[in-house]
Amino acid sequence: MSGLFSPFALKDVTLRNRIAVPPMCQYSAEDGVANDWHRVHYTSLARGGAGLVIVEATAVSPEGRITPACLGIWNDAQAAELAHIAREIKAAGAVPGIQIGHAGRKASANKPWEGDDHIAAEDGRGWDTIAPSAVAFGNNLPQVPAEMTLDDIARVRNDFVLAAKRARDAGFEWLELHFAHGYLAQSFFSVHANKRTDQYGGDAAGRSRFLNETFNAVRDIWPENLPLTARFGVLEFDGRDEETLEESIALTKQLRSAGLDLLSVSIGFSTPDANIPWGPAFLAPISARVRKEAQIPVASAWGIDSPVIANQTIEKGELDLVMVGRAHLANPNWAYNAALALKKEKASWVLPAPYAHWLDRYRVSE
Ligand SMILES: Cc1cc2nc3c(=O)[nH]c(=O)nc-3n(C[C@H](O)[C@H](O)[C@H](O)COP(=O)(O)O)c2cc1C
Repeated sequence: MSGLFSPFALKDVTLRNRIAVPPMCQYSAEDGVANDWHRVHYTSLARGGAGLVIVEATAVSPEGRITPACLGIWNDAQAAELAHIAREIKAAGAVPGIQIGHAGRKASANKPWEGDDHIAAEDGRGWDTIAPSAVAFGNNLPQVPAEMTLDDIARVRNDFVLAAKRARDAGFEWLELHFAHGYLAQSFFSVHANKRTDQYGGDAAGRSRFLNETFNAVRDIWPENLPLTARFGVLEFDGRDEETLEESIALTKQLRSAGLDLLSVSIGFSTPDANIPWGPAFLAPISARVRKEAQIPVASAWGIDSPVIANQTIEKGELDLVMVGRAHLANPNWAYNAALALKKEKASWVLPAPYAHWLDRYRVSE
């Protein structure tokens, strides 16, 4: 069996199909702690049939949150609620994953539907941000971050390790390091954000150092038998794409040699001056190149909401896993609809018995 509904084994974990729910911030937490919203949200997604459900960007420290309403995993109360979510995802037959990250200079922002901009200084809810260099992102995020000292760098690296330990102890079986989307790790890699002249800046080796060191530190404590993955923006669509892509592939090879099990191929989002060629599955050919040249399994998202296209990216060997994001917000049972669209025989392949039993006999009109 090949295609979207074939199982995918990585280390000791086997996904029931190639459909993953990518991390999607819910901006609904208080003090970084998950609540009923998150429980229902993640449980519904897992019951909907995806093979992997990755919990949203979860901050390794308070200043690493994007907004005050983001999840965190720097204390035990946060980890206890996340453990409940991991259990529910697993009970529904999906593999529980989590993305841990630090928002860097994009932190201290308002929720997307409350402005998506930096929290104003006089508001009182915001905080000072840190980044590789004292350079603001620009546009809606004008706050100038403080340049990180070497002590800051060591502390954040250790925060990633502590967060990974908590994620492991909470029962997550798939860890994704957030090295993408213009947040802290991506900023270290980015020529737009990183103007350092020490060993953490300059050439590609210097700009890759924070990512390599953080990865290696987490690798040391994350169980060898469970997937350790990263999400990384391999290019910016800023006009220097081939150069960035080559540097990204070189970094991916280093991470693979150090034990990276899969790369989730994404976009850098390090500069507001990007010209992104949005379209259905537009990152699939780029992901395929990373997969081939770095010899590593890949996942990718962005505009893969058609079951036929999703299936093609797997059958053509472009992707090992498809990340279906917004389409899962529209319909948590996207995998069931995909099974129907691809004319799989039974819904019970995908949904739990209390739903599947009825839907195998009765087809809801479209
Ligand atoms: C509401 C929302 C929240 C998101 N939060 C995250 C996040 O926490 N971490 C991340 O890496 N990407 C995040 N993303 C990006 C998604 O993971 C995904 O890449 C994006 O939605 C494109 O896939 P799609 O076209 O299938 O929606 C978010 C996207 C949305 C719509």
